[in-house]
Amino acid sequence: MAQQKSFSSNLGAIMAAVGSAVGLGNIWRFPYICGKYGGGAFLLVYLCFVFLLGSVLMMSEFVIGRRSQHTPIKAFQTLYPKHKAWGLVGALGIVTSFFILSQYLVISGWTTGYVWHSVSGVLSSLGTDSAAISSFFTEFSTSPWTPVLFLGVFSLIVLIVILGGVQKGIENVSKVLMPLLVLLVLVLCVRSLTLPGAGKGVEYLFSPDFSKLTGEGVLAALGQALFSLSVGMGVMIVYGSYIPAGDNIFKTAMWITGCDTLIAILSGLAIFPAVFSCGFEPTGGPGLVFLVLPNVFNSMGAASVVFASLFFLLLMVAAITSAISLLEALTAWICDHTQIRRWVGAVLFFVLTTALGVMFSMSIGSLSHIKITGLTLFDFVDRLNSIYLPPLCALGTIIFFGWVMPEEDIKDELSNHGTLRLGYYKLLRFMARYVAPLALLVVLISGIIS
Ligand code: TRP
Repeated sequence: MAQQKSFSSNLGAIMAAVGSAVGLGNIWRFPYICGKYGGGAFLLVYLCFVFLLGSVLMMSEFVIGRRSQHTPIKAFQTLYPKHKAWGLVGALGIVTSFFILSQYLVISGWTTGYVWHSVSGVLSSLGTDSAAISSFFTEFSTSPWTPVLFLGVFSLIVLIVILGGVQKGIENVSKVLMPLLVLLVLVLCVRSLTLPGAGKGVEYLFSPDFSKLTGEGVLAALGQALFSLSVGMGVMIVYGSYIPAGDNIFKTAMWITGCDTLIAILSGLAIFPAVFSCGFEPTGGPGLVFLVLPNVFNSMGAASVVFASLFFLLLMVAAITSAISLLEALTAWICDHTQIRRWVGAVLFFVLTTALGVMFSMSIGSLSHIKITGLTLFDFVDRLNSIYLPPLCALGTIIFFGWVMPEEDIKDELSNHGTLRLGYYKLLRFMARYVAPLALLVVLISGIIS
């Protein structure tokens, strides 16, 4: 059965996809690796990767989704019925989405908890005592019930949006949350940039230092470009199937890529000037968000509660719209393969991913003795989600797009049946056939080696 669902407008499609793309990766990963690997020099490389490769992958997923009007597995099989085995690439995407969502819920649960603790003033009562802040985080994240409770609250919010449907749920919520996110990040930028000594943070982010741009840095830029655009797990195939028929896929993908990049840069400007101004060392990941930033906010005096609350709200908004796209992909997929009602599918995956998320969460505390290949469950799935699954799925997708899917279909879909000019097509084709597969192979191999 072909899917009938779609976003109501181009703006809606862009907002929803930007919502998916803008996530923890933009806020806690991009700024840090940008500074670490040479600031402006890294940014230059990143911009090339994101616009020349990331956007190509996104376009390929959009074309596959909209052309087939199906979710990952059936999409590949519909577009190339001769070899149903291509559906395996889609299956890999579904599995990846499942694990990413389960893991994403853990961090999102912490974020939800920190929204609560900053609004209620608990966080600011810790003052600027690093040891107290760090033991608060350890206690919070390893306690048996609190993180689970907040994880549950967060996934319930996501479920409610999905139950609202594609237009009334996802699209409308994204149209409210994305402008809110931009507003929040701008307010935080102004605060951060007007602190004494903020210039050092700007320098860390942007002043180009080509000597720091190592091979490792170039790889990090490539990995980040793919992760940040949410490509390589079939989610954009599902969203692609919702893009209205008259929309220009090329322009849509460029808008999404541009917004995602802009928000990553703004996040950097909201975070690092403040970090430097308060005399902290730059870092990334959970350490930055849950250990360093509370301290930074608490050094801001009276307004600490306000800025901490705004920041964790920003992070939660970014996480919600990403989690929505993941749960939607899983829900749409099961509805595409079975006769079950949409709400049943959504609840099913809500229960499964929440249960798995709880297990991952507990693997940091009470279940930390359970190890797979020497890693806790959380660290194991983190490796799977960052190093193996997405590049592999992206590689399969781009080979399908560049070498397998009939070229007439691609051109017909990109040009809206011949009504749009395809001035970019030759470059796109070259990237999709040669550069992107090679780049993904390098990412995959270097990930496995490291
Ligand atoms: N792009 C998200 C971020 O920057 C992370 C992510 C990767 C993601 N793949 C995804 C989000 C798929 C939603 C769906 O944080």
